[in-house]
Amino acid sequence: MKVLLLGSGGREHAFAWKFNQSKKLEKLFVAPGNAGTAEIAENVNLNPNDFDGIKKFVLGNNINMVVVGPEDPLVNGIHDFFLNDEEIKEIPVIGPEKLGAQLEGSKDFAKEFMFRHNIPTAAYKSITTENLEEGLTFLETMKAPYVLKADGLAAGKGVLIIEDLDEAKNSLKEMLGGMFGDAGNRVVIEEFLSGIELSVFVLTDGKSYRTLAEAKDYKRIGEGDTGLNTGGMGAISPVPFAKGDFMQKVEERVIAPTIEGLQKDNIPYKGFVFIGLMNVEGDPYVIEYNVRMGDPETEVIMLESNQTYWN
Ligand code: AMP
Ligand code: GLY
Repeated sequence: MKVLLLGSGGREHAFAWKFNQSKKLEKLFVAPGNAGTAEIAENVNLNPNDFDGIKKFVLGNNINMVVVGPEDPLVNGIHDFFLNDEEIKEIPVIGPEKLGAQLEGSKDFAKEFMFRHNIPTAAYKSITTENLEEGLTFLETMKAPYVLKADGLAAGKGVLIIEDLDEAKNSLKEMLGGMFGDAGNRVVIEEFLSGIELSVFVLTDGKSYRTLAEAKDYKRIGEGDTGLNTGGMGAISPVPFAKGDFMQKVEERVIAPTIEGLQKDNIPYKGFVFIGLMNVEGDPYVIEYNVRMGDPETEVIMLESNQTYWN
């Protein structure tokens, strides 16, 4: 088959490397790709958010499947765009429709989803300028550190973790005042979870699912795990502390209820679910959902996953 992969990261290079091992692959295009993908696939000079351009390319090159690497085309509705167009609606797009993509596109949507389906996650309150006073009072009831999250997409940088109460109150006001642009028009204040993080990755058609390998990325920019968060400086898989008992809890308390929740809420979902978890004394709590694979996690998961499910 002919596949169009959207994105330009290390993630897409890892996907391309793995797709190339499939006997089913006839030709792989990557838009826009990078220097690595240029060596193993054909790069196409197209922006993943240029839906009309993508349609033209897909029709002109008899593409059989589109795999979406990053989140923004999904949140912008690329899958819906395909489904609503007679000429391309039969071409599978791997990645959820706009509604499902809200699991990453809106922290508030994700928290409501988790609470509705009893999926363990930190306590929270969702704040806009309308109920700012409620937010300030909520902060006073909490213990430091304070976790403030811009509701919308902020390239992994919309989360502040603050030790001082007054500083947290000021930051809440600044976020609502445009510190992260429109992404911060709503802010989710969360209880701080203390533990060690890891992520699990699931591929689903919205009903059945396959849990892929787990991974752990390292985000702090400085030497010795210090400084500001990046999108991820490196990753490992398998994760040494992701042992049977803990992973069984992840499956039963998080993964299965997530897929069931999508069905109960009538959220169509064909694609990857990336579940960011905190291991709090042996119990998993969801920190976030992403509606795609991680970068750099994909780079290690593709190496880890030499099982049959990719072939
Ligand atoms: P997020 O974008 O929601 O994944 O948050 C970015 C990072 O902030 C996470 O990878 C965690 O390191 C940290 N974080 C987010 N939420 C919490 C929380 N409730 N408690 C502790 N740390 C958190
Ligand atoms: N490495 C984190 C992410 O892809 O969101």
